[in-house]
Amino acid sequence: MDSILVTGNGALSGQIPIAGAKNACLTLMPATLLSEEPLTLTNAPRLSDIKTMTALLQSLGAEVSTLQDGQVIAMSSHDLTSHTADYEIVRKMRASNLVLGPLLARFGQAVVSLPGGCAIGARPMDLHTEGLEALGAEIELKDGYLHASAPRGLTGAVHEMRFASVGATENIVMAATLAKGTTVLKNAAREPEIVDLVECLRKMGAQISGEGTSTIEIQGVDRLHGATHQVVTDRIELGTYMLAPAICGGEVELLGGRLSLVGAFVEKLDAAGIDVEETAKGLKVRRRNGRVQAVDVTTEPFPGFPTDLQAQMMALLCTAEGTSVLEEKIFENRFMHAPELTRMGARIDVQGGTATVTGVDRLKGAPVMATDLRASVSLILAGLAAEGETVVSRVYHLDRGYEHVVQKLEGVGAKIERIKS
Ligand code: UD1
Repeated sequence: MDSILVTGNGALSGQIPIAGAKNACLTLMPATLLSEEPLTLTNAPRLSDIKTMTALLQSLGAEVSTLQDGQVIAMSSHDLTSHTADYEIVRKMRASNLVLGPLLARFGQAVVSLPGGCAIGARPMDLHTEGLEALGAEIELKDGYLHASAPRGLTGAVHEMRFASVGATENIVMAATLAKGTTVLKNAAREPEIVDLVECLRKMGAQISGEGTSTIEIQGVDRLHGATHQVVTDRIELGTYMLAPAICGGEVELLGGRLSLVGAFVEKLDAAGIDVEETAKGLKVRRRNGRVQAVDVTTEPFPGFPTDLQAQMMALLCTAEGTSVLEEKIFENRFMHAPELTRMGARIDVQGGTATVTGVDRLKGAPVMATDLRASVSLILAGLAAEGETVVSRVYHLDRGYEHVVQKLEGVGAKIERIKS
């Protein structure tokens, strides 16, 4: 298994291009199932999660091909041959469950494996099934698979979600595009990836309003047609690389970044002593003189501080002046990076969903292990600022969500290399 060797090398400077959003692409790809006509995505990220979604769509009979070194994904669901999302694929990636709503809407039936637990928590699917049942689907759990059917088609309804789940919002919105009548989804998630999905669905002929607010209204149509859509910038990759100059010092411009994608995160960076400026090409990030200051962080659904940046923010706060309290409100088990950071000399006390971080002057390089996607990149960030060498193992997690991480960080002066095994 490959690992990544990082050596602390001082301040960074230069530019990092930010890719299209993994999480947007993973919901835009299943949207192809809603139409017989082709759907083409541009600005797609080159990631193993995208390959997993490609394999899933192909297993359903969709044609999926990549062009321009993977940045363009051309899909056609003209002749689908299966409506079953197999456990072997779903267990690799929870986002596989995003085929449920589209398959059900187009064919009146879908069989989708339950994803099972993942390292960061239980992550059930009750919010997805409740929403689809409100649209008239009958859903049964058999042998670990959700069997969903709507023999007479789906019917629009008013439904309020108990929690603003991102994936459930995406599944329900996609299903409602082809339902009879109007659906009003209340307490919907407001993430930019959902706004991006709705913009694409609208290009395909869907009638939707209210995306980006907590009430989304969908007027069902008989059919959707083909479209071409550019995937929105990845706000999590953006936030991750914004932390590189914050941790190491220096100034880095993140190409394609926008403040509107990372508002709550930028507020915390500002309080910690990091300047962020919008430029013509993206966002420029610079650490002010002196030590980073401790800040308290609570993760929340968008527009709050994203859970997907919590691990990376913790890496910054490990060397801040003072004590920071991080509260994780989205996932029950998302501090697995804390013991690894502790191996590098960090002082972190985890009690349930709260981590208290007392800043130390400097971290020290150590062998550490990536436990999930965002945890893995937090260890790389910590390694960039540590004294000596850090070896991060199990980097296959990283390949799920960060394209060309070594080249991007090398490009701004970091000392980092991938060690093939
Ligand atoms: C998406 C993102 C993930 C991010 C998360 C929260 C994708 C592919 N992934 O995941 O990177 O960390 O949003 O911003 O877009 N829940 C239930 N029942 C359900 C569904 C969810 O209890 O039916 C719970 C989950 O266990 C979790 C919380 O709701 O505790 C948030 O999950 P959700 O918003 O659904 O996240 P995902 O869509 O899985």
